[in-house]
Amino acid sequence: MIIESKTIKKVCEIAKCCYDFGWDERNGGNISVLVDESEIQASLAGAPPICRINTGVDNSNLEGKLLLVTGTGKYFRNIPNEPKESLGIIRFCKNGFADIVWGFENGGKPTSELPTHILAHKSRLAVDDNHKVVIHSHPTNVIAMTLTHPLDSKSFTLSLWRMITESLIVFPDGVSVLDWMLCGNVEIGIKSAELLKECRSVIWAHHGIFCTGSNLDETFGLIETIEKSAELYMKTLGHRITEGISDDRLRELATAFGVTPKKDLL
Ligand code: 13P
Ligand code: ZN
Repeated sequence: MIIESKTIKKVCEIAKCCYDFGWDERNGGNISVLVDESEIQASLAGAPPICRINTGVDNSNLEGKLLLVTGTGKYFRNIPNEPKESLGIIRFCKNGFADIVWGFENGGKPTSELPTHILAHKSRLAVDDNHKVVIHSHPTNVIAMTLTHPLDSKSFTLSLWRMITESLIVFPDGVSVLDWMLCGNVEIGIKSAELLKECRSVIWAHHGIFCTGSNLDETFGLIETIEKSAELYMKTLGHRITEGISDDRLRELATAFGVTPKKDLL
């Protein structure tokens, strides 16, 4: 049974954590995971697709792949109790089309941010064979930082790295920051996917974050670490008496932990 698959169980667990952390108010945020065919193929065997949708984006290179994705308007708080209504699985076809093959019961459909999710998966797969997960969420302090910090990716990354030791170790690739744009369309998806060629995280000013990774725990942990740094940044704003971790110390940290900081930052 698909409902018992480990990926669906894990998405339910992660959605609950996102909600409990206050990152996903109401229907805020969405999750998508490229699912291994072997995990659910037996359950799908012989079942006809539920319906075909036009994703509106170029999905070449994804044809045949399965994507588990949250539904539009679905409250994160309810995902663990209503997985068949809140989640669905699509199979990519040619020319931007996809078949819904499971879920979205009672009239649901994929998140309005599906274009960004699809283009983000394509971008990351092009640079990382292990890539599987995209999580979009609305963490409070990351958003607050986009109201109190210049919106350039370099200084934003450095400010986050300076707050806590863990940051450079967890995201040496930094973050990219996208100034406010209308969401839920192909244009913001194209811009985000472009930025995701160089790092795993893109922050949408005054909106939230898109993080990517090879599994749900790692991707959740990436948001957690960025949000923790942003919280420290916000808590100390206006009364900081040190700059935090200096460039020299960041270099020392990178050497000790064997990570390569995004170039031109240190
Ligand atoms: P959906 O309910 O369509 O997933 O949208 C939530 C959201 O966070 C939009 O950016
Ligand atoms: Zn959002």
